[in-house]
Amino acid sequence: MEVEKVNIWLDCDVGNDDAMAIILALFHPKSNLMGISTCFGNTCLENCTINTIRILSSVGRSDVPVFKGAECSLKSVRATTKMHGNQGLYAADKLIQSFEPMQNIPLYDLIKKSAGEQKFVIVITGPQTNIAILLRDHPEIIPQIQEIVFMGGASGFGNATPNSEYNIYSDPEAAQFVIDTCKQHQLKLVMIALDLTYTCQLVESLQQRIKAINSKFSDWCLEMLQEFQAAYKAQEFDYPPIHDPVAVFYALHPELYITKPLFVAVDCESKLCYGRTVVDKQGVLGLEPTLEFGRKVLVEEFWNQMIEAIRLAAKNSKLE
Ligand code: BDR
Ligand code: CA
Repeated sequence: MEVEKVNIWLDCDVGNDDAMAIILALFHPKSNLMGISTCFGNTCLENCTINTIRILSSVGRSDVPVFKGAECSLKSVRATTKMHGNQGLYAADKLIQSFEPMQNIPLYDLIKKSAGEQKFVIVITGPQTNIAILLRDHPEIIPQIQEIVFMGGASGFGNATPNSEYNIYSDPEAAQFVIDTCKQHQLKLVMIALDLTYTCQLVESLQQRIKAINSKFSDWCLEMLQEFQAAYKAQEFDYPPIHDPVAVFYALHPELYITKPLFVAVDCESKLCYGRTVVDKQGVLGLEPTLEFGRKVLVEEFWNQMIEAIRLAAKNSKLE
């Protein structure tokens, strides 16, 4: 039976968990990955772009266009995290790189070329700089966007600072611009925060299932994810949360999530809490909701489909 596909434009900063987001977007049967834009974030733009191309090349999908995006945030230059190793992707040298990013074409034109007149979903798994610029400079694209789903933010805690999550902290002004634009144009915006992604940890039994796929590519995935785990262990996590594919999965299976419309704004002013997402969970401000806040996901089903995507990627793999 033909499944109805969801067209996805992925904006990411690859990144170990971003790599998993790409694999899910490539190999989930409901997904049509139209293209990828890269952003500075987990590492510099150059590395994020090469890492993206490495993943696509290694699973035989050099047909997916890659746009090299923003080098730094809208207002200030932010540091990269060391959580993702020096290159931004563990064991990156074991992958292959068989093509180059697009040249001489603006992001808007590339998206239009890929989408034609079709509707599509934007999934953001890094700083929101590219998409803020796209919406600012080309508001005519907005009617074609079905929804924007982003991984980022947290309610009352953080991983970049005690109060700020990494993606939002990396470009708070861009994130607030995306919130304002979506509100203004009544475009659905979905926030997949740390609150939710911390429930999607790669526990031992899941690692065994990846191991059982037993191929060059699945072995690479496991090695990369286990190095990611080691970095999380230093932060007192037993297992690593695999944040970014949880946002892609929402675009494909919203029925497996519980969300709530909430007022959320980004603190772009304060010294201590710069980049914090203020999530009005109890509606104490009495303000209109600005987005759909992801509260729960069917974790088991997320992992079943994520691991199936790894299995399909392994089947397609060009690694020898
Ligand atoms: C987010 O920050 C990045 O380091 C990860 O790739 C993820 O997108 C988690 O806070
Ligand atoms: Ca990311």
